[in-house]
Amino acid sequence: MSEPKQFKKCQAIRGTTDFAQDVLSKFNFITDKARQTALLYGCEEINLPVLEDTSVFVRAVGEVTDIVEKQIFKAVRAVAESKQDIALRPEGTAQVIRYYIENALNKKKPFHKLFYTGPMFRGERPQKGRLRQFHHLGVEAIGGTDTVLIDADIIALAVNMLDASGVKNKTVKLNSLGCHADKVRLTENLKTALAPYKDELCPDCLRRVLTNPLRVIDCKEKKCREIIKALDFKDSHLCVKCKDEFDKLKNVLRSIEIAFEYDPFLVRGLDYYTNTVFEIVSSDLGSQDAVGAGGRYNNLISNLGGPNIPAVGFALGMERIMLISKLKVAQPVIDIYVAGHNDNYINERYALVKFLRNEGVSADMDYCSRSLKAQFRAAQKQDIKYIAVLGDDEIKAGKIMFRDMMNSKQEMLDKVEIIKRLISFK
Ligand code: HAM
Repeated sequence: MSEPKQFKKCQAIRGTTDFAQDVLSKFNFITDKARQTALLYGCEEINLPVLEDTSVFVRAVGEVTDIVEKQIFKAVRAVAESKQDIALRPEGTAQVIRYYIENALNKKKPFHKLFYTGPMFRGERPQKGRLRQFHHLGVEAIGGTDTVLIDADIIALAVNMLDASGVKNKTVKLNSLGCHADKVRLTENLKTALAPYKDELCPDCLRRVLTNPLRVIDCKEKKCREIIKALDFKDSHLCVKCKDEFDKLKNVLRSIEIAFEYDPFLVRGLDYYTNTVFEIVSSDLGSQDAVGAGGRYNNLISNLGGPNIPAVGFALGMERIMLISKLKVAQPVIDIYVAGHNDNYINERYALVKFLRNEGVSADMDYCSRSLKAQFRAAQKQDIKYIAVLGDDEIKAGKIMFRDMMNSKQEMLDKVEIIKRLISFK
């Protein structure tokens, strides 16, 4: 007989993460904390699909951006027969706005604060903190008139979510791009300032200077970074109104004791922003130091075919939070382990497990025909506090041996007494 064929081991896609129980416990705990914080701030939660029409992101994020030019994952094969161009969402803002417009949420209330969580996909070159599938905790505040106060509320919510997630070491970086006219001015200023450096910029930036000069500021190439850092531009692009609003925002943040640093080089890598932009960075993270980011996008809703309504929001990167969170999260442990000798009374043991579970007590048993000693060792290894033993003596007495592993005491009880005992211990 020929040797069995050796198959190549399957592997996860680079830049994706498998979450084992210990990591997932922390992930779920942080998500719950973020959810509770969002509810504290009056958010409603929504859950939107992973699949979205590609044009939503192209129109919102911008054609000359890394996300659209290089990172969109297309769902080509699965929908080959439909002519629709479908993407795995790279971010949540554009999608939330598509949902807002489609459901005419502006007709229901003048102001919405929407919280969402879920996986996002970007065709990145994977490295620490930069994944192809990652998760966002996001909030979008849509509508309202007192934009300065809403901006401050959104920044405070992002900071509070990070506090609740155990992220200690963090800095809020803040800037204002100004209104549409200011942004055009900023773009023109930048074009003029970069003109003398044409021969030194990388080929991508050379193209960006003509098509979308703001994106030169995000370039990761060393030479381009040096050129940008040496430029002298601060808030000269801001009109009187936008400058006044930015000053007001800084004052509100000071009054609620949210520390921030003004960073004129912060422009964000997505085109939809106007006015306030912010990023929360942590020196605990290394080169990919942004743990979250956001800003105002007053023209996005109308650009996607909706009414002229302002909005602001943010998204936190779950995987980056997990890298630096100081939280210690307890692992789930079952309440009681039902043990016996090898396969003896296996059906009776299983019936007991089933009874306990029906009564709301988490219970499990051995499925490997191991000795009683090995079963005790397995229970101890999992930190299970109580063991129920069903053997000859117990079956004869019509009782169960209930053992408290913390003080090594044991007593014969019936199953109803076990339930009462476990409930009183909880
Ligand atoms: P973003 O800056 O692209 O903004 O993403 C927000 C956060 O997601 C980042 O600060 C980072 O922590 C995390 N993140 C981004 N890309 C990756 C990646 N490849 N791997 C791991 N984590 C990553 C947005 O997406 C905007 N939608 C934020 C926003 C909401 N603006 C207004 N509302």
